[in-house]
Amino acid sequence: MPDTLLSVRDLKLHYFTSKGAVRALDGVSFDLAAGETLGLVGESGCGKTTTGVALLNMPSPPGRIVSGSIMLDGAEIVGMRDRELRTRVRWSRISMVFQGAMNCLTPVYTVRALMMETFKAHTVTSRLENAEAESLLRHYIGLVGLPEHILGRYPHELSGGMKQRVVIAIALFLEPKVVIMDEPTTALDVIVQAQILNLIKVLKRDLNLSYIFITHDLATEAEVADRIMVMYAGKVAEIGTNQQIFGEKGPLHPYTQKLLNATPRLRRKVSELAFIPGAPPDLLDPPAGCRFSPRCPFAREKCRQVEPPITRLEDQHEVACWKAMEDPDYARS
Ligand SMILES: Nc1ncnc2c1ncn2[C@@H]1O[C@H](COP(=O)(O)OP(=O)(O)O)[C@@H](O)[C@H]1O
Ligand SMILES: [Mg+2]
Repeated sequence: MPDTLLSVRDLKLHYFTSKGAVRALDGVSFDLAAGETLGLVGESGCGKTTTGVALLNMPSPPGRIVSGSIMLDGAEIVGMRDRELRTRVRWSRISMVFQGAMNCLTPVYTVRALMMETFKAHTVTSRLENAEAESLLRHYIGLVGLPEHILGRYPHELSGGMKQRVVIAIALFLEPKVVIMDEPTTALDVIVQAQILNLIKVLKRDLNLSYIFITHDLATEAEVADRIMVMYAGKVAEIGTNQQIFGEKGPLHPYTQKLLNATPRLRRKVSELAFIPGAPPDLLDPPAGCRFSPRCPFAREKCRQVEPPITRLEDQHEVACWKAMEDPDYARS
């Protein structure tokens, strides 16, 4: 892929709990091009947030990257020392708007103090003088559409939309190239959602950012993403362009089809089931073969025994499904 900014190969991140290893990421590979928005979708528990924090090499305990590679702009993130990650990678080259972060802003800090904390934690001290930092803060607070006096306010004095703008400013003001947005509009009411989504799009264009945009809502993804990566139970089920997933032909993986049919704004075949029966498997002990097979209407013996490898069926369109590999038109007649 031209101008690949981020390249993830066979990434495994497991949570080592007292009950055993939760295989939250189990061999995930994908690329992100400069200026691209890659949408990450899947039901709750499929490994979307874990993918995001893995890219910062910042798994929450008891998680650990077990193997694989994350090349960001020519540098290997897996195995990188913590100090280097802190001062040269996190926030300065890749940052994340964490799921629900707007509700976790430290209440005793002003917006200015919150931003300065991030600044001090993620820059080599004395690289910038305080005056320069202050002008960066003001600039980015303005970019996210907030007046300067907000810098002196405390989180409880701000509305939900304003808090989310602050969180976005914190993710951006050290000028990373890649920003991971984890459910950035989920906790907001509908009108504010639209405003924040619009802000996210404008910032991407004006700052030439690349996004990994995580949401469980396919309709939002159809609006923002250039390509879509569908995750199921710690694995990639399907990757394709916006057109390949949401266009006339439709997706290849039965799981993606189910997700689409469960999204009223995108559903085409009204007669189909509007929900997906069952739940994603326990990642302490995932099913053999294809992890979706227990819920899949097309599953055969082979699907229950042999795991389908992710396979390119069309230019830019990859799927991990025996049915789709053998008959790519099975769902399109
Ligand atoms: N800190 C943790 N400790 C143990 N298991 C975790 C932890 N965080 C996430 N998991 C498990 O990892 C899997 C993926 O979770 P997550 O990445 O949060 O999914 P998503 O963001 O798609 O909802 C789930 O099975 C979840 O229970
Ligand atoms: Mg999540």
